Formats: sequence, structure tokens, C-alpha cells
Amino acid sequence: MNPIAVTPLRGDEEWETLVAHYPHLRTTPELVLSDRDRTRAIAADLRDFVAAHPDSTWVARDERGLCGLLGAALAPWESRHFGIRAANIEHLLTVIGDPQRQRTTVDALLLAYRQWHRAQGLDFVAAKLPSADLVAIGALEDEGFRYVESLTFLFRDCRRGRMLPPRRTVYVYRQIQPTDVQVVVPYARASFSFARFMADTRFPRDQAVDFYERWMRNMCHDLPDTAYVMEIDGRTVGFYISRVDDLTERMGLRVGRMILAAIDPTLRGQGIGFDLTRNTVAWLLEKADIIEGAVITRNAPMFNLLTELGFQVRVPRVTLHHWTEKTHE
Ligand SMILES: CC(C)(COP(=O)(O)OP(=O)(O)OC[C@H]1O[C@@H](n2cnc3c(N)ncnc32)[C@H](O)[C@@H]1OP(=O)(O)O)[C@@H](O)C(=O)NCCC(=O)NCCS
Repeated sequence: MNPIAVTPLRGDEEWETLVAHYPHLRTTPELVLSDRDRTRAIAADLRDFVAAHPDSTWVARDERGLCGLLGAALAPWESRHFGIRAANIEHLLTVIGDPQRQRTTVDALLLAYRQWHRAQGLDFVAAKLPSADLVAIGALEDEGFRYVESLTFLFRDCRRGRMLPPRRTVYVYRQIQPTDVQVVVPYARASFSFARFMADTRFPRDQAVDFYERWMRNMCHDLPDTAYVMEIDGRTVGFYISRVDDLTERMGLRVGRMILAAIDPTLRGQGIGFDLTRNTVAWLLEKADIIEGAVITRNAPMFNLLTELGFQVRVPRVTLHHWTEKTHE
């Protein structure tokens, strides 16, 4: 008899116990909290996800209790853009300790997930997992998922000091204007060769480039108050979008997020990105308690810029892609 029972959710689970037994989820901003507050904050996020996706979340239990959870969600934006049925595995966590129990749990969760995958007629699924969770990564690889990128979360604690290295160029730093959007959005064409929809060659390259261009355009429109451009001698040379999430109620912190940046492709490697990033950090230092940035690890210049600006590496993650092989009748 299979010792794992994968059940639908039945109300309020023992979230905090599960989270406490899965240390790989201790990402920023939760890292600066006490163990107890962090566990509560992560469990609350998870509970919100599950409430929004009751039909694509599965919980595993064995004789020792709740031992795992897998949560998936359809990806409407990617589906529309690429003309495929796409989804993401958003959460896959298990009680860490006994690798055999962990693997059995992941396999049982994947068995339940697979039915949903088939019923939804999915073509493509992405999963982002903590890179320390080798058991879950191995199980997904056996399922046909393939590595596509590593993501590194970096963070700076503003409460420990606000010193920054000096700037290096003479520039104007100002909020983005509609005319700037026309200038900066085309940067996308030469900016995201390292990103996953470009790296995964099963996505048509033109569509992948369009995807990042649309993403940039949407971000400029959605967050105009926190999108800034840098201007040198009257010429717009780069932009940075950031945001402050006020999570005071949930975890007593205001979290600054470095979201999206690009420098004019003809002007890279001259220190402009450094000054632009430095300014964005300075702006966030005034408004946030901690600042977080997520960088695709192979994007060395961005990674280096953030470490130069006092960011420390925290949780590394990997992204895996899965394509459903079409069988011909
Ligand atoms: C990433 C990006 C913003 C960097 O801008 P840039 O103007 O080219 O960068 P800079 O010239 O300021 O810095 C480039 C290098 O100098 C280094 N550098 C900058 N200031 C430095 C300093 N004070 N001391 C030592 N090194 C420094 C950086 O670490 C970086 O190192 P590397 O290229 O050897 O890895 C730019 O390349 C870009 O637009 N890329 C495409 C879009 C992108 O990747 N966006 C970020 C993710 S959303």
C-alpha cells in the first residue's frame, strides 16, 4: 500500500509545521526575521496561494502527518503570447530530513499533478525550485523537466547602513516620461539573451524577443511612479524600475524590490549601469528596510553591480522547463 495519501485540501492545514520543516524556503525578506515570524509570513503567503488555486494544489500525508505540498497555476500571459497552454509549478515543498520519505512524497504529489496536467492539455510547464532541494529537482528531472537557468536572490539590509560608493558619471536621474518609453523599450531587443524564454530554443526567437519587449512596455506603464531614467548630455541612456512593498502588517518590513533595468546597448560597459543601479539603491534606501534583487546568475554584469553596491547573495534557485511531447496517432 502506498504510505502517502495525496488529498485535496480540507481546510486549514498545519501550514506552519510544513514550512518549518522546509528550510529552503527561507528566502529574503523573511531571512531578516526571527524563525517564528518568518515561518508565519511564509505560511501566510502559501495559504493565500492555496486559497486562490484550490483545484491545482495537492497535499501529501503519511503516517507521520502532513509531509508535502505541490501548487501549480496556469500561466495565461505566456499562454496567450506564445499560443500554447502554459503553467507553472509555483510551490513544491516537502518535509526535509529523510531523503527516501521526501522522494516518495514528491513522487506521490507528481502523480496527482500529472492528472491535472493532462486534463488541462498543457504544452509547457516551468518550475522554480530552491537549488538546495536536490531531491525535488531530481524527481522533476525524472519527470522530463530540464534545467534552463539559475536565479540568485541578493539582498541588502538598509537598517545596517546607507553608505554607497561614489558615482562616476555626470547625469540627470528623473522619473520616466511617455517619450522615454519609446526610447527604452527597444533596448529589450538587445537585452535579454540570458533570459529563459530566449535560452530555451523551443520558444521561437522572435516571439521570445517580443515577450521581453512587451514586458518592459507593461512595466513602464504599470509602475510609472517608480520607473526612473538616466540622462547624460540630454540623452536618455538607461532606465530602472523598482518598487516598495509595504509588508509592515505581515512582517514588519518595507521591502524594496529591484525589478527591471537596461542600459542603451551601445553604451554598455562604461559605468552607466553602475551609476543607474547606485541611484536606484539610494532611492530605495530612503524608503525601505531591506532591498531585494533577483538576478539570473549568468548575467554577470548585473550580478557584479549589485555585489559592488553591498548586496549579499542569499537564496539560489533553479528554473526547469518541461515540454509535453506530442504523440502522433
Ligand atoms: C546589466 C547592465 C544594466 C549593466 O550596465 P553597464 O552600463 O553595462 O554596466 P557597467 O559598465 O556600469 O558595469 C559593467 C562592469 O563594471 C563593473 N563595475 C561597475 N562599477 C564598478 C566599480 N565601482 N568597481 C568595480 N567594478 C565596477 C561591474 O561589476 C561590471 O562588471 P563586468 O561587466 O566585468 O561583469 C547592462 O549591461 C544591461 O542593460 N544589460 C541588459 C539588461 C539587463 O541585464 N538588465 C538587468 C536584469 S533586469
